[in-house]
Amino acid sequence: MQNVMAEQQTYSDNSLLLDAREQNVPRGVVTAHPLVIERARGSEVWDVEGNRYLDFVGGIGVLNVGHNHPAVVNAVTRQLGLVSHACFQVVAYPGYIELAQRLNQLIGGDEAYKSVFFTSGAEAVENAVKIARAHTQRSGIIAFDGAFHGRTLLGVTLTGMSAPYKQNFGPFPGEVYRLPFPNPLHGVTEVDCLKALDQLFAVQILPERVAAIIIEPVQGDGGFLPAGPAFMQALRRITEQHGILLICDEVQTGFGRTGKMFAFQHLDIKPDLVTVAKSLGGGLPISGVVGKAAIMDAPTPGAWAALTAAMH
Ligand SMILES: Cc1ncc(COP(=O)(O)O)c(C=O)c1O
Repeated sequence: MQNVMAEQQTYSDNSLLLDAREQNVPRGVVTAHPLVIERARGSEVWDVEGNRYLDFVGGIGVLNVGHNHPAVVNAVTRQLGLVSHACFQVVAYPGYIELAQRLNQLIGGDEAYKSVFFTSGAEAVENAVKIARAHTQRSGIIAFDGAFHGRTLLGVTLTGMSAPYKQNFGPFPGEVYRLPFPNPLHGVTEVDCLKALDQLFAVQILPERVAAIIIEPVQGDGGFLPAGPAFMQALRRITEQHGILLICDEVQTGFGRTGKMFAFQHLDIKPDLVTVAKSLGGGLPISGVVGKAAIMDAPTPGAWAALTAAMH
Protein backbone atom coordinates (compact mmCIF):
# COMPACT_ATOMS: atom_id res chain seq x y z
CA MET A 1 0.00 0.00 0.00
CA GLN A 2 1.26 3.43 -0.87
CA ASN A 3 2.47 5.41 2.10
CA VAL A 4 0.17 8.44 2.15
CA MET A 5 2.02 10.13 5.02
CA ALA A 6 4.27 12.90 3.69
CA GLU A 7 7.83 12.56 4.87
CA GLN A 8 9.00 15.14 7.38
CA GLN A 9 11.04 17.64 5.36
CA THR A 10 13.65 20.11 6.51
CA TYR A 11 13.83 23.54 4.92
CA SER A 12 16.53 26.16 4.87
CA ASP A 13 15.18 28.85 2.56
CA ASN A 14 12.22 31.16 3.20
CA SER A 15 11.70 31.95 -0.50
CA LEU A 16 11.44 28.31 -1.64
CA LEU A 17 8.78 27.65 0.96
CA LEU A 18 6.93 30.83 0.09
CA ASP A 19 6.83 29.69 -3.56
CA ALA A 20 5.32 26.40 -2.43
CA ARG A 21 2.88 28.34 -0.28
CA GLU A 22 1.81 30.37 -3.32
CA GLN A 23 1.02 27.19 -5.25
CA ASN A 24 -0.74 25.30 -2.46
CA VAL A 25 -2.55 27.84 -0.30
CA PRO A 26 -5.24 30.15 -1.72
CA ARG A 27 -4.54 33.88 -2.04
CA GLY A 28 -7.40 34.75 0.33
CA VAL A 29 -5.14 33.79 3.25
CA VAL A 30 -2.71 36.69 3.19
CA THR A 31 0.54 36.22 5.13
CA ALA A 32 1.86 39.60 6.19
CA HIS A 33 5.58 38.79 6.53
CA PRO A 34 7.85 37.17 3.91
CA LEU A 35 9.31 34.61 6.28
CA VAL A 36 8.51 31.09 7.40
CA ILE A 37 9.16 30.28 11.04
CA GLU A 38 10.44 26.98 12.30
CA ARG A 39 10.31 27.41 16.05
CA ALA A 40 9.41 29.89 18.74
CA ARG A 41 9.96 30.49 22.44
CA GLY A 42 8.47 33.20 24.65
CA SER A 43 8.50 36.38 22.57
CA GLU A 44 11.02 35.17 19.99
CA VAL A 45 10.65 33.27 16.71
CA TRP A 46 13.28 31.76 14.40
CA ASP A 47 12.75 31.38 10.67
CA VAL A 48 13.87 28.39 8.61
CA GLU A 49 17.10 30.24 7.73
CA GLY A 50 17.97 30.55 11.42
CA ASN A 51 17.21 34.29 11.73
CA ARG A 52 15.79 35.35 15.11
CA TYR A 53 12.91 37.84 15.38
CA LEU A 54 11.05 39.51 18.21
CA ASP A 55 7.36 38.62 17.91
CA PHE A 56 5.23 41.68 18.60
CA VAL A 57 2.05 40.00 17.37
CA GLY A 58 1.74 36.79 19.38
CA GLY A 59 -0.62 35.17 16.90
CA ILE A 60 -2.91 38.25 17.19
CA GLY A 61 -3.74 37.98 20.87
CA VAL A 62 -3.46 34.20 20.98
CA LEU A 63 -0.19 33.98 22.91
CA ASN A 64 -0.57 36.39 25.81
CA VAL A 65 1.78 34.14 27.83
CA GLY A 66 4.22 33.78 24.93
CA HIS A 67 5.11 30.90 22.63
CA ASN A 68 5.43 27.44 24.17
CA HIS A 69 4.99 28.61 27.74
CA PRO A 70 6.19 25.73 29.94
CA ALA A 71 2.90 25.65 31.87
CA VAL A 72 0.95 25.29 28.63
CA VAL A 73 3.33 22.67 27.22
CA ASN A 74 3.21 20.68 30.48
CA ALA A 75 -0.58 20.83 30.70
CA VAL A 76 -0.99 19.72 27.09
CA THR A 77 1.61 16.95 27.39
CA ARG A 78 0.05 15.68 30.60
CA GLN A 79 -3.44 15.70 29.10
CA LEU A 80 -2.33 13.89 25.94
CA GLY A 81 -1.00 11.13 28.18
CA LEU A 82 -4.42 10.83 29.85
CA VAL A 83 -7.08 11.43 27.20
CA SER A 84 -7.04 13.76 24.19
CA HIS A 85 -10.71 13.66 23.21
CA ALA A 86 -13.82 12.02 24.53
CA CYS A 87 -16.64 14.26 23.30
CA PHE A 88 -18.22 15.89 26.32
CA GLN A 89 -21.67 15.06 24.95
CA VAL A 90 -20.78 11.38 25.39
CA VAL A 91 -18.78 11.37 28.64
CA ALA A 92 -17.65 14.15 30.94
CA TYR A 93 -14.03 14.75 31.90
CA PRO A 94 -12.54 16.94 34.63
CA GLY A 95 -10.78 19.55 32.46
CA TYR A 96 -14.02 20.79 30.88
CA ILE A 97 -15.75 21.16 34.23
CA GLU A 98 -12.74 22.75 35.95
CA LEU A 99 -12.27 25.26 33.13
CA ALA A 100 -15.96 26.18 33.31
CA GLN A 101 -15.69 26.68 37.09
CA ARG A 102 -12.62 28.89 36.68
CA LEU A 103 -14.13 31.09 33.96
CA ASN A 104 -17.47 31.36 35.75
CA GLN A 105 -15.65 32.60 38.81
CA LEU A 106 -13.39 35.00 36.87
CA ILE A 107 -16.27 36.53 34.93
CA GLY A 108 -19.30 35.99 37.12
CA GLY A 109 -17.69 36.53 40.54
CA ASP A 110 -20.38 35.90 43.15
CA GLU A 111 -23.12 35.63 40.53
CA ALA A 112 -24.00 32.23 38.99
CA TYR A 113 -22.47 31.96 35.51
CA LYS A 114 -22.08 28.93 33.23
CA SER A 115 -19.68 28.13 30.39
CA VAL A 116 -19.84 26.10 27.21
CA PHE A 117 -16.85 25.36 24.96
CA PHE A 118 -16.23 25.34 21.23
CA THR A 119 -13.23 25.52 18.91
CA SER A 120 -12.87 28.97 17.35
CA GLY A 121 -13.77 32.52 18.25
CA ALA A 122 -16.27 32.70 15.42
CA GLU A 123 -17.99 29.59 16.73
CA ALA A 124 -18.23 31.17 20.18
CA VAL A 125 -19.76 34.31 18.66
CA GLU A 126 -22.28 32.28 16.64
CA ASN A 127 -23.29 30.34 19.72
CA ALA A 128 -23.59 33.48 21.83
CA VAL A 129 -26.11 34.72 19.26
CA LYS A 130 -27.99 31.40 19.43
CA ILE A 131 -28.09 31.57 23.24
CA ALA A 132 -29.31 35.18 23.15
CA ARG A 133 -32.06 34.31 20.68
CA ALA A 134 -33.11 31.23 22.63
CA HIS A 135 -33.27 33.18 25.88
CA THR A 136 -35.06 36.27 24.62
CA GLN A 137 -37.14 34.58 21.91
CA ARG A 138 -36.22 37.60 19.77
CA SER A 139 -34.28 37.71 16.54
CA GLY A 140 -32.55 41.09 16.12
CA ILE A 141 -28.82 41.44 16.77
CA ILE A 142 -27.07 44.80 16.82
CA ALA A 143 -23.37 44.99 15.94
CA PHE A 144 -20.97 47.86 15.30
CA ASP A 145 -19.23 49.43 12.34
CA GLY A 146 -15.59 48.36 12.37
CA ALA A 147 -16.33 45.27 14.48
CA PHE A 148 -14.62 41.97 13.79
CA HIS A 149 -16.46 38.85 14.94
CA GLY A 150 -15.00 36.06 12.76
CA ARG A 151 -14.96 34.49 9.32
CA THR A 152 -17.98 32.21 9.36
CA LEU A 153 -21.03 33.46 7.49
CA LEU A 154 -22.69 34.87 10.62
CA GLY A 155 -19.27 36.06 11.84
CA VAL A 156 -18.70 38.17 8.73
CA THR A 157 -22.30 39.35 8.82
CA LEU A 158 -21.69 40.75 12.31
CA THR A 159 -18.32 42.12 11.19
CA GLY A 160 -18.53 45.78 10.28
CA MET A 161 -15.99 45.93 7.46
CA SER A 162 -17.16 45.21 3.94
CA ALA A 163 -13.82 44.68 2.19
CA PRO A 164 -12.24 42.20 2.29
CA TYR A 165 -14.21 40.17 4.84
CA LYS A 166 -17.64 40.33 3.20
CA GLN A 167 -16.53 40.82 -0.38
CA ASN A 168 -18.35 38.40 -2.74
CA PHE A 169 -19.66 36.21 0.12
CA GLY A 170 -23.31 37.27 0.31
CA PRO A 171 -26.19 36.89 0.75
CA PHE A 172 -25.79 37.19 4.50
CA PRO A 173 -28.02 36.02 7.35
CA GLY A 174 -30.74 38.52 8.24
CA GLU A 175 -31.74 40.45 11.34
CA VAL A 176 -28.33 42.01 11.94
CA TYR A 177 -28.40 45.78 12.45
CA ARG A 178 -25.49 48.20 12.64
CA LEU A 179 -24.43 51.11 14.82
CA PRO A 180 -21.43 53.43 14.55
CA PHE A 181 -18.65 52.75 17.09
CA PRO A 182 -17.22 55.76 18.96
CA ASN A 183 -14.15 56.91 17.06
CA PRO A 184 -12.57 60.24 18.11
CA LEU A 185 -10.19 60.10 15.12
CA HIS A 186 -13.17 60.26 12.78
CA GLY A 187 -15.17 62.64 14.94
CA VAL A 188 -17.75 60.01 15.97
CA THR A 189 -18.67 60.70 19.59
CA GLU A 190 -20.31 58.39 22.11
CA VAL A 191 -23.36 60.67 22.03
CA ASP A 192 -23.58 60.26 18.23
CA CYS A 193 -23.59 56.48 18.68
CA LEU A 194 -26.30 56.54 21.34
CA LYS A 195 -28.42 58.82 19.13
CA ALA A 196 -27.92 56.33 16.29
CA LEU A 197 -29.25 53.59 18.60
CA ASP A 198 -32.39 55.64 19.30
CA GLN A 199 -32.78 56.15 15.58
CA LEU A 200 -32.31 52.46 14.88
CA PHE A 201 -35.06 51.63 17.40
CA ALA A 202 -37.28 54.28 15.79
CA VAL A 203 -36.90 53.31 12.15
CA GLN A 204 -35.51 49.79 11.83
CA ILE A 205 -36.38 47.50 14.72
CA LEU A 206 -38.31 47.93 17.95
CA PRO A 207 -36.16 47.33 21.03
CA GLU A 208 -38.48 44.51 22.11
CA ARG A 209 -37.47 42.58 18.97
CA VAL A 210 -33.74 42.89 19.70
CA ALA A 211 -32.10 39.85 21.29
CA ALA A 212 -28.62 41.27 21.85
CA ILE A 213 -26.07 43.95 21.25
CA ILE A 214 -22.63 42.49 20.59
CA ILE A 215 -19.57 44.67 21.14
CA GLU A 216 -15.80 44.35 21.47
CA PRO A 217 -14.84 46.43 24.54
CA VAL A 218 -11.78 47.37 22.49
CA GLN A 219 -12.18 46.93 18.75
CA GLY A 220 -9.18 44.97 17.50
CA ASP A 221 -9.25 44.68 13.72
CA GLY A 222 -11.26 47.92 13.64
CA GLY A 223 -8.19 49.88 14.77
CA PHE A 224 -7.63 49.24 18.50
CA LEU A 225 -10.44 51.54 19.53
CA PRO A 226 -11.63 51.36 23.13
CA ALA A 227 -15.29 51.85 24.07
CA GLY A 228 -15.29 54.24 27.02
CA PRO A 229 -16.89 53.46 30.40
CA ALA A 230 -19.67 56.05 29.97
CA PHE A 231 -20.65 54.56 26.61
CA MET A 232 -20.60 50.98 27.88
CA GLN A 233 -22.57 51.96 30.98
CA ALA A 234 -25.17 53.67 28.78
CA LEU A 235 -25.42 50.54 26.62
CA ARG A 236 -25.80 48.44 29.77
CA ARG A 237 -28.62 50.69 31.04
CA ILE A 238 -30.46 50.69 27.70
CA THR A 239 -30.11 46.93 27.24
CA GLU A 240 -31.39 46.27 30.76
CA GLN A 241 -34.30 48.65 30.24
CA HIS A 242 -35.41 46.74 27.12
CA GLY A 243 -34.52 43.17 28.10
CA ILE A 244 -31.77 43.08 25.48
CA LEU A 245 -28.65 41.02 26.23
CA LEU A 246 -25.22 42.64 26.20
CA ILE A 247 -22.60 40.36 24.67
CA CYS A 248 -18.96 41.36 25.11
CA ASP A 249 -16.77 39.74 22.48
CA GLU A 250 -13.54 39.28 24.44
CA VAL A 251 -11.97 36.89 21.95
CA GLN A 252 -9.11 39.35 21.41
CA THR A 253 -9.27 41.48 24.57
CA GLY A 254 -9.47 38.59 27.05
CA PHE A 255 -6.86 37.04 29.32
CA GLY A 256 -4.88 40.06 30.40
CA ARG A 257 -4.61 41.75 27.03
CA THR A 258 -5.79 45.12 28.39
CA GLY A 259 -4.19 44.87 31.84
CA LYS A 260 -7.17 43.19 33.55
CA MET A 261 -8.24 39.63 32.94
CA PHE A 262 -11.13 40.90 30.76
CA ALA A 263 -11.53 44.32 29.19
CA PHE A 264 -15.11 44.81 30.46
CA GLN A 265 -13.62 44.84 33.98
CA HIS A 266 -12.26 48.35 33.29
CA LEU A 267 -15.74 49.62 32.48
CA ASP A 268 -17.83 49.02 35.59
CA ILE A 269 -20.39 46.89 33.75
CA LYS A 270 -21.23 43.21 33.73
CA PRO A 271 -22.10 41.62 30.38
CA ASP A 272 -24.76 38.93 30.11
CA LEU A 273 -22.58 36.84 27.80
CA VAL A 274 -18.85 36.90 27.11
CA THR A 275 -17.15 35.17 24.19
CA VAL A 276 -13.62 33.89 24.80
CA ALA A 277 -11.02 32.18 22.60
CA LYS A 278 -7.45 32.98 21.45
CA SER A 279 -5.30 33.17 24.64
CA LEU A 280 -7.72 30.85 26.43
CA GLY A 281 -5.86 28.04 24.63
CA GLY A 282 -2.40 29.62 24.43
CA GLY A 283 -2.08 28.36 20.85
CA LEU A 284 -4.53 25.47 20.95
CA PRO A 285 -7.98 25.87 19.41
CA ILE A 286 -10.52 26.32 22.17
CA SER A 287 -13.23 28.94 22.61
CA GLY A 288 -16.22 29.42 24.85
CA VAL A 289 -19.27 31.39 25.85
CA VAL A 290 -19.49 32.38 29.50
CA GLY A 291 -22.73 33.88 30.72
CA LYS A 292 -25.39 34.31 33.36
CA ALA A 293 -26.59 30.85 34.33
CA ALA A 294 -30.29 31.38 33.56
CA ILE A 295 -29.44 32.72 30.10
CA MET A 296 -26.92 29.96 29.37
CA ASP A 297 -29.58 27.36 30.19
CA ALA A 298 -31.96 28.70 27.53
CA PRO A 299 -30.89 26.31 24.73
CA THR A 300 -32.74 23.06 25.30
CA PRO A 301 -30.98 19.81 26.32
CA GLY A 302 -29.33 18.41 23.23
CA ALA A 303 -29.08 21.77 21.47
CA TRP A 304 -25.31 21.31 21.34
CA ALA A 305 -25.27 17.52 21.11
CA ALA A 306 -25.93 15.47 18.01
CA LEU A 307 -26.27 12.44 20.26
CA THR A 308 -29.83 13.09 21.38
CA ALA A 309 -30.94 13.82 17.82
CA ALA A 310 -29.32 10.59 16.61
CA MET A 311 -31.15 8.59 19.28
CA HIS A 312 -34.61 9.64 18.09
C1 LIG B 1 -13.03 40.11 18.57
C2 LIG B 1 -12.93 38.85 17.78
N1 LIG B 1 -13.99 38.04 17.69
C3 LIG B 1 -13.94 36.91 16.99
C4 LIG B 1 -12.80 36.51 16.32
C5 LIG B 1 -12.79 35.23 15.56
O1 LIG B 1 -11.99 34.30 16.19
P1 LIG B 1 -11.45 33.02 15.39
O2 LIG B 1 -10.45 33.52 14.40
O3 LIG B 1 -10.84 32.15 16.46
O4 LIG B 1 -12.64 32.39 14.75
C6 LIG B 1 -11.65 37.32 16.40
C7 LIG B 1 -10.42 36.91 15.70
O5 LIG B 1 -9.51 37.65 15.44
C8 LIG B 1 -11.71 38.53 17.14
O6 LIG B 1 -10.65 39.34 17.23
